[in-house]
Parts: sequence; structure tokens; C-alpha cells
Amino acid sequence: MKVQKIKFKDSNKDYSILIGNNILNLLSLKIKSLSPKTKKIALILDKGVPSKYKKKILKNLKRYEVYVYNFNANEKTKSINSVTHLLNKLLLKNLNRSDLIVGIGGGITIDFAGFVASILKRGINFISVPTTLLSQVDAAIGGKTGINSKYGKNLIGAFSQPKLVISDTSFLKSLPKKEMICGYAEILKHAIINDKKFFHWLKSNTKYIFSHHSKKLIYAIKKSCNIKLFFVNKDVNEKNLRMILNFGHTFAHAIEVKNNYSKSITHGEAVLAGMILATKLSIIKKVCNKKTLNELLDIYESNNLNYSFNKYKKTKEIKKLIPYLKNDKKNNDEKINFILLNRIGKTTMPNKNKISINELNKLVKYFTQY
Ligand SMILES: NC(=O)c1ccc[n+]([C@@H]2O[C@H](COP(=O)([O-])OP(=O)(O)OC[C@H]3O[C@@H](n4cnc5c(N)ncnc54)[C@H](O)[C@@H]3O)[C@@H](O)[C@H]2O)c1
Repeated sequence: MKVQKIKFKDSNKDYSILIGNNILNLLSLKIKSLSPKTKKIALILDKGVPSKYKKKILKNLKRYEVYVYNFNANEKTKSINSVTHLLNKLLLKNLNRSDLIVGIGGGITIDFAGFVASILKRGINFISVPTTLLSQVDAAIGGKTGINSKYGKNLIGAFSQPKLVISDTSFLKSLPKKEMICGYAEILKHAIINDKKFFHWLKSNTKYIFSHHSKKLIYAIKKSCNIKLFFVNKDVNEKNLRMILNFGHTFAHAIEVKNNYSKSITHGEAVLAGMILATKLSIIKKVCNKKTLNELLDIYESNNLNYSFNKYKKTKEIKKLIPYLKNDKKNNDEKINFILLNRIGKTTMPNKNKISINELNKLVKYFTQY
């Protein structure tokens, strides 16, 4: 069993991210060394994770008093009501600060469990076991935890780092293709914004990611985590540089809101479309050239991903997105704060390309030229 390890370090916390295939049995060993006083463990378990893993984990943790909370993970249950419900259960079990919460599941479960751990008794130990590709390359990395509110997604939360992340690629075998695409969109984004070499690697190896080739998956997850951490380390509280990680997400967010977060377009598919639209806007704003766009289109085409942006080849469909761009989190005034692409591996800096709705309405006709 080969385990890849990434060390995260900032001014007040360091922890490891372990990546490998079939590495779940490391959990109890790691708890023993990282949290030696732990007696009770609350497992917050995503109901979508196949039950064989639950059995495996319970066997691995048999020396502890384990409480299992089966979480029906969706954007509606990622809520303050679920937080209150779980907090009451955990307080009843009398978990204290030397005890531990382990979140096992996709990004929703990891965000939710991490948030509960950050506020229970002002913060108890937390270990994250992400089980979707997106949570392994994104949600479990960087210390953002949180829940949704009726005013929008992820509006309540805390920056809080775990004690450990275990990314076991064997979980991904049961993941539907649509969910694999969600994670892949973020992997591709990481390559596009920061690493030309990795982008070229993806050109020849994307097919192996989708066919679950263990070694290639582990390589892509590790690369992707390192790129995310590069930005997080420079800007833990998301004041500036970390916003580059939002490349493609301004349009993606508008697509998702416009479609009422319908399951027919997943977040990852919206990100894939959003990155193409952001690149076209980069050409229109003369910070990028057509060759870069073609490189992107090539990788989409050879992996059958162009279906994600077909709809946005029409001016009228792009126009419909514009009113929904206004609510993006990066905006700090009336204008839309875009991260644009210079070339593969390099974006513009945050706050350098603020575009008004008026100007966007004028530019929209040029998108179809590319
Ligand atoms: N904190 C952050 O920095 C950050 C970053 C990106 C995304 N997020 C959040 O992550 C969430 C999306 O995460 P996601 O894409 O993992 O979605 P998700 O948590 O909804 O999981 C997707 C689906 O897969 C199921 N599932 C989980 N593991 C499985 C497995 N091994 N096999 C089969 N099915 C499995 C889940 O039950 C769910 O139905 C969003 O709420 C988003 O806001 C957070």
C-alpha cells in the first residue's frame, strides 16, 4: 500500500493529507497518534457511501466508543436545522474536546461535519475522510467549513483546519460518472490556473482518471491538492489571491442559480462551461489568445466534455446569465470581479478585471466569434 502525503502548514496549524488506494485502515492508527486522549468518536457518515465501508470503519475503530450519525447529504440538509439536530445528539453523548468527529462523505458532509466540529464546545478534533473526487481535490482541502442559508449557499461557516485528511481512492469506484466529472472539473481548473505541465499531463491522462486507474488518480489528486494549497497558504482567509481558485466559477454560479440548482446541470458541468466562457471573455478583453482557448476545447472534445457548454454557444443564452452574475461572492462593488485567463498556467489577478453589467451586455455578441 503506497501512501502519498502532503503536509499543510500555516501559522497555527499543521496537518497531513494522505492519499492512496485502500488506505482506510490507517484511520485508527492515525487517531491513536494524533489524538491519543480520544475515547469517543462521532462518525458523521454520508448515506450515499456504500455500506461496506461503514462496516470496515466500525471494525477499524472497535477500541473506541463510536456514535454513528447517518447523514442524508443534500444542499437542503446542509442547514442550520441539521447542525442543531446533530449538536444536540453530540452534547447528549457528552463528547468533549479531546474526543473526535470524523466526517466521511462528499463535500456536503465534509463541510457540514467540519462546521459542527468547529463550533461544538468551541472546537473539537476533526478528521476528514472525503469520498467523492470533488471532496478529495477541493472541499476537504483548505479549511473552509459551512452550511447553506435561505439567502444562499455556504453563507454560514468557519475557517477551521482538520487534524488529518484521508483520501482513499477506493471510495471513488462507486461514484457515478457525473460526480467524477464534478471532481475532474476542479482538477482541470487547478491545472489551467497554475500548472501548464500538469495541463499537458491531463491531456494524455484524463481518460485514465475516468477509468479509475489508481496510480493516475492518486497523481492527479495530489497535484490538484498541492495547487489548491498553494493559493490557500498565500491567503488563508480569502482576501485576495485565493479568489483565483474561482476561475470559471463566476459564470458557473450564474448557470447554477439560473437553473435553480437543478440536478440536470451539476456544479462541475457548470464549472466546465464557466471556464470556456471566462476564456472567451479573456480573449474579448485582449488578455488571452485563441490558441489557449483551442487547447482547452481540445481537452474537452477528446474527453466528450463539450456537451457542458454547447448551450452557451448562443448569444441569447449567455445574455440570460448576465443578471445572475451580480451576486458573485467576489464582487465588492456594482461591477463583476472576473478572474480571466492569460494563458494555460496563468490568470489575471483578482480585482484587476471588474466589468459592469452594462459593458457585459455590449460584449456579449463577441462571444460567438470564438
Ligand atoms: N469547503 C470548500 O472549500 C468546498 C469546496 C468545493 C465544494 N464545496 C462543497 O462541496 C459540496 C459538493 O460536494 P460533492 O460534489 O462531493 O457533492 P455531495 O457531497 O453532494 O456528494 C455527491 C453525491 O455522492 C454521494 N456519495 C458520496 N460518496 C460516495 C461514494 N463513495 N460512492 C457513491 N456515492 C457517493 C453523496 O451521497 C451525494 O449523493 C457543495 O456543497 C459545495 O459547496 C466545499
